[in-house]
Amino acid sequence: MKNKFYSISVLGLGHVGLITAVTLAHKGFRVYGIDTNENIINQLQQSKTVIYEPNLQKLLIESIKNNLFIPTSTFKKPIIESELSFITVGTPNNVDGSINLNNIFSVSETLGKHIKNKTTPHLVVIKSTIIPGTTQNIVKIIEKHSNKKCGVDWNICVNPEFLREGSAIYDNLNPDKIVIGGYNKYTNTLLESFYNDVHSDNVPPIIKTSPSNAELIKYINNVFLASKISFINNISNLCQKIPDTDINIISEALGHDKRISSSFLNAGIGWGGSCFKKDINALLSFAKTLNLELPLIEASLKINQNQPLEILKLAYESLGSLKGKKISVLGLAFKPNTDDMREANSISIINKMVAEGAIVTVHDPKAIKNAKKIFKDKILYAETPGTCIKNADCCLILTEWQEYINFKPEFFLEYMKNPLVIDGRRIYDPEKFCSIKYVAIGLGKKIK
Ligand code: UGA
Repeated sequence: MKNKFYSISVLGLGHVGLITAVTLAHKGFRVYGIDTNENIINQLQQSKTVIYEPNLQKLLIESIKNNLFIPTSTFKKPIIESELSFITVGTPNNVDGSINLNNIFSVSETLGKHIKNKTTPHLVVIKSTIIPGTTQNIVKIIEKHSNKKCGVDWNICVNPEFLREGSAIYDNLNPDKIVIGGYNKYTNTLLESFYNDVHSDNVPPIIKTSPSNAELIKYINNVFLASKISFINNISNLCQKIPDTDINIISEALGHDKRISSSFLNAGIGWGGSCFKKDINALLSFAKTLNLELPLIEASLKINQNQPLEILKLAYESLGSLKGKKISVLGLAFKPNTDDMREANSISIINKMVAEGAIVTVHDPKAIKNAKKIFKDKILYAETPGTCIKNADCCLILTEWQEYINFKPEFFLEYMKNPLVIDGRRIYDPEKFCSIKYVAIGLGKKIK
């Protein structure tokens, strides 16, 4: 097989697949993007994005115009014409938390059927998150349906992604590392040479290893990050009980220790999003099949389940019962710069307040459309932050959007009679907000 890849197919155009496809097209590769959802394909063919991600729209328009990104719902031509296929289908949880591999096995079967008709070699690259050992099963499926041997006629490697929603395009163009778990050493070198081309100006560290290691690294990366947040949230709850303490100062001090590093030490309402919970549950379930308990990881999950309650405790302390209280919420998305509300902790917080009889009005710069699908008419939706907080008894900050970070106490004084701000993301400086009633996650009471 030659060392240069010119045509690529990306199988599954969810968040990871779409970002992978448009960034590779941006780098000059010809990329077929395949998804069986015709609606997604129709929209993409018209250069319309189906998710919000900074710069995605721009790159999509550019790559469609240059005919470098070709969205399609058929597999045959893209697989035949490409030299490399990325598998980027979703790997959700089953009801019991274990990983559901139906999508990945189904797409492997399709790949096998088309690899059968190829006269040139093909490299299969699994980007989807999969439990250790899964690649061996994928190899068996592709060999069965292609009637061709892995390592001879075609090759496979695991190449997990570490991109974050909200900065996914930047992360894809500037990765901290690349992990390649190939079927054999030759496959590792093959994909390494591809990434040397992609990142020719600034090649990140490349870890070449076995498929099982690569599969596991992805889980451990996410589990570690989630645990780091759960750790700081746990300590943040301690701070709330100790006068004159502040989790932000503690995080800052910890972060200066190079062995700890400052990222993922922001206390808040707990982690959300489509990945951390899914991956932790899948890993715990997998460990169970090995008769192994992972108590540290179980604790991270438990801490995160309870963390949304912390901001409600602050609301009860200030307001007593929430019944009939007008509560405004700034921020719904699980993090800024995305419209994604999957596993957003704003959901459980709002549902609890509504159940207790609060009148809830919300604002989010991007996630209102998704929020309406979840809350329907149980809450009110505001077009601007000002109308959201108008005459409210209390304002909760649940996502740290830049436009909220810019607010000064005067903004709350203008719209609220007796401003009470409960900061679930620690975006304001308590010193600067002392002119209004300001309480926050991880902030002990002032002694005087
Ligand atoms: C996460 C990982 O960071 C990516 O490396 C990985 O590729 C991705 O999952 C995935 O598996 O696809 P993502 O969920 O998009 O990325 O976003 P993060 O930036 O990790 O944030 C996750 C949650 O943690 C958010 O709710 C965020 O608000 C919260 N968080 C993050 C904190 O509460 N505190 C922090 O210090 C950092």
